[in-house]
Amino acid sequence: MATTFIILKPDAVERGLVGEILGRFERRGLSFLALELRQLDKAVVQRHYIEHKDKPFYDDLVTFLTRGPVIVGVIEGPSQVVEIVRAMMGTTDSGKASPGTIRGDLAMLVDENLIHGSDSPEAAEREIGLFFPEFRLA
Ligand code: PPS
Repeated sequence: MATTFIILKPDAVERGLVGEILGRFERRGLSFLALELRQLDKAVVQRHYIEHKDKPFYDDLVTFLTRGPVIVGVIEGPSQVVEIVRAMMGTTDSGKASPGTIRGDLAMLVDENLIHGSDSPEAAEREIGLFFPEFRLA
């Protein structure tokens, strides 16, 4: 088994899509090892997106992620769980995401794209450590 990390962004909470999105992961057969509604502070979001700090959208991204509560979670699944969750999310630009994906079915914008998912096992480990420092993988 392996783990990955997700954030349901403020737009997902504001639009009442938390149950819909989490339900998709449950119906796929994935499990939640941790799940929490949390208001993120600027410092943790800046650290999370540190690799994008020179991108033109960085400040807007940090403002967006801190504008209201999010759901942070750790998902457990088979060894390729990172790829499974990323495929279920759809492409970053929701306007181009395929039908059947979370973004392709529920969103249209690149900046309000509902969900973050780790893009590699290494990123998952780093992100789980950042958001759930008490969490220890067996
Ligand atoms: S890049 O340039 O390819 O490395 O960027 P990408 O990996 O696609 O995106 C990095 C995160 O930034 C978000 N993003 C944006 N936010 C606001 N505005 C714009 N234009 C924009 N483009 C990308 C994108 O959703 C990624 O965040 P996460 O949370 O990982 O989805």
